[in-house]
Amino acid sequence: MNTEINTNTPINYEVVKQKIKESGLKNVGSASIRELVRLVNEIESETGDKFVRMEMGVPGLMPPEVGTNAEIEALKKGVASKYPMIDGIPQLKDEISLFVKNFLDIDVNRNGCIPTVGSMQGGFAVFLMSQNISKTNNKTLFIDPGFPVQKQQLDVLSLDYDTFDVYNYRGNNLREKLESYLSDGSYTTIIYSNPNNPSWICFSETELQIIGEVSNKYNVTVVEDLAYFAMDFRKDYSKPGQAPYQPTVAKYTDNWILLISSSKSFSYAGQRIGMLVISDTLYNKQFDSLKEKFGNSGFGYNMVYKILYSLSSGTSHSPQYGLYAMLKAVNSGKFNFVDDIKVYGERAGMMKKLFVENGFKIVYDKDEDEPLADGFYFTVSYPGLTGEELIEEFMYYGISAISLKITGSERTEGIRACVSQTSKEQFADLEYRLKEFNKNHK
Ligand SMILES: Cc1ncc(COP(=O)(O)O)c(C=O)c1O
Repeated sequence: MNTEINTNTPINYEVVKQKIKESGLKNVGSASIRELVRLVNEIESETGDKFVRMEMGVPGLMPPEVGTNAEIEALKKGVASKYPMIDGIPQLKDEISLFVKNFLDIDVNRNGCIPTVGSMQGGFAVFLMSQNISKTNNKTLFIDPGFPVQKQQLDVLSLDYDTFDVYNYRGNNLREKLESYLSDGSYTTIIYSNPNNPSWICFSETELQIIGEVSNKYNVTVVEDLAYFAMDFRKDYSKPGQAPYQPTVAKYTDNWILLISSSKSFSYAGQRIGMLVISDTLYNKQFDSLKEKFGNSGFGYNMVYKILYSLSSGTSHSPQYGLYAMLKAVNSGKFNFVDDIKVYGERAGMMKKLFVENGFKIVYDKDEDEPLADGFYFTVSYPGLTGEELIEEFMYYGISAISLKITGSERTEGIRACVSQTSKEQFADLEYRLKEFNKNHK
């Protein structure tokens, strides 16, 4: 590798260097997503050059009209002046229950189908609940890599967690690894996202079955974060009531909570509405600890009337109508939500190719024996550089991403790239910049 610094970079070297210095960041490579967003905005406005922005997972598509129209109508009818029911408007609860049946093939009572202020709030509510169920045995186990903000939520609550990178524990190896943590009895919760942010691995049925069986054995609740619902585009999960269904741990245990975000699958991130879905068994489960603290022992009851009431007294009214209208259209087969978002998979396929052609390697590349799907994120590395070094180097080449290190990944050589903000018109820029990068680092 060259030790000499190459200052002939696609983005003005001096400006980038100066902006990094002004940012006050000790290490650009380990900056949080929002810190990187700020730095890149600064460089873009100073140089006038547009970055290939792959740092933040924001939807790059318009929201479905059926949702926005329903919200406008609801607002015109005056819902803004009324407090929504904490557990959601009844018609939305019914539609969520139907959605879970249609697309996961799982039965759940409408009581456990609760809109939240994004999945972000759903997760926070679950963590808060674990704290109230047990003062001592309330640890969370992350099957990582994962979404960094969930760990921040646990830090805010001063709750303990453990994490391991699943990279070396795929397939049957997962059981022993999970048991090595759970067997001490100190955990209430296992959490993972599937498809996974950041690696885009998708668990196989074998792996989901293992997670389910282990959760039964140790009486631990599985929080399955489906933020990228139906976005494993290798399979068509878009037909209501027809196989194949979005794979889920709910087939293998009754002790589950699903977080179904509308942000990516429905391009509805701005309205901050997600679905917290609690299995009937867990919803109806009684806990002495809850009885002692709140006077009522029911998990579901306390989730609604203690936890969610305390957090925000329910979810903003008009987005509930928007989500209701979208789900109704999806459940009745009138609106194929997957068709709208498939473009992410196409982009990922093309972008991965450009990286690989220019000396990069895909870090997480397989689901057991199968090549990984093309979706919202992918992970890459460059020989001889750590992920953090790569992030900083990329600033000079007009490319932004995040380091895998901040996601709980042990693959510290890697970075996560999000495809959502990169349109096809930018592919030529990306290709040129990657070529220059490769030329200067060979
Ligand atoms: C894995 C994961 N979980 C949860 C969320 C948050 O979802 P929401 O926008 O519904 O709060 C995200 C958003 O990027 C995510 O990637």
